[in-house]
Amino acid sequence: MKGLILSGGRGTRLRPLTYSLPKQLVSVANKPILHYVVENLLQAGIGEIGVIISPETGEQIKKSLMEAGFKGANFTFILQKEPLGLAHAVKVARDFLGEESFVMYLGDNLIGSGINDLVKEFAGKNPDALILLKEVENPRMFGVAEVGENGEILRLIEKPEKPPSNLALVGVYLFSPAIHQAIDRIKPSWRGELEITDAIQELINSGKKVLYHKLERWWLDTGKKDDMLRANRVVLDELQGRKIKGSVENSLLEGRIIVEEGARIKNSRIRGPVIIGRETLVENSFIGPYTSVGDRCKILRSTIEHSVLLGEVEISGVEGLEDSLIGRRAKIIRGAGVKKVFRVMIGDDSIVEI
Ligand code: TTP
Repeated sequence: MKGLILSGGRGTRLRPLTYSLPKQLVSVANKPILHYVVENLLQAGIGEIGVIISPETGEQIKKSLMEAGFKGANFTFILQKEPLGLAHAVKVARDFLGEESFVMYLGDNLIGSGINDLVKEFAGKNPDALILLKEVENPRMFGVAEVGENGEILRLIEKPEKPPSNLALVGVYLFSPAIHQAIDRIKPSWRGELEITDAIQELINSGKKVLYHKLERWWLDTGKKDDMLRANRVVLDELQGRKIKGSVENSLLEGRIIVEEGARIKNSRIRGPVIIGRETLVENSFIGPYTSVGDRCKILRSTIEHSVLLGEVEISGVEGLEDSLIGRRAKIIRGAGVKKVFRVMIGDDSIVEI
């Protein structure tokens, strides 16, 4: 079985961050979302991995995956010139996929369990599609499945007004090669995209076996800032214990905390769950729960909570930064006399002086 990660797309919802960084490379607990996806595939024994990339962000995706040095992974990068839909991405990957079954995994989705069970179930039941579904509270916002009594999918509907169930499509799909013929038979939707839901519906209509697997743990789409912060919270919540590789001087550390190599914490208080990246300096500051501080950041005389700071960020004199998502190399510097709570989402290389 092969893997196909979809890492193209535009990422409009996460702008301004995604003007300079593909959304699949935004970090959650200091690790790019895409790396969690690769780890899940490798854990399920899938090392032959095709990665759909776009002309705009493809090089960054390639670099990030090659530099991470995943053991047992063999990547094939496949250029999709335009984001014409998930089924279009499968079409573009046709040569790579050949006549093998495959897992299609959206490169911006995080799920709380691996995909081992899913892969085993596919091997045992031998369907033409096995789709991961998750119970959601607001099914009107998702692609939703109507399901039968024997684990089969009867119908898929995009953003239904009257949802037939609360089971949404999660972004992980297992297919037999029959999906290719189904894709050949569908037409672009009203939004001009070849939809994977239409292709799956086509499989169902032609009498193929389409089953589902219900995800019992969490699933996080990382489309917007608040989704990202939620993802960061959930992943940090799973941190176990404390790992201090950097140096800590005259500081109070409470709860589950990771301080990476070369990081320095001076005259500060840190309340976990928190991760502090490599070579980051935290001085005279408070870092509150659910905060990920990337590599080579500088936090001086500041208080920060519930936030994600990507690499090389500088925060100085800012008391009350919370629920924020801050791009690489951005700086927030406070002048004297201003004391307020701030919630921001700022892109790479921005400078904010308050
Ligand atoms: P989406 O989140 O549906 O689309 P998007 O990336 O264009 O984002 P936004 O809505 O913020 O503009 O895409 C889901 C995943 O699939 C994401 O990782 C990008 C990828 N993708 C492709 O690789 N090719 C495509 O043609 C599309 C539509 C998405």
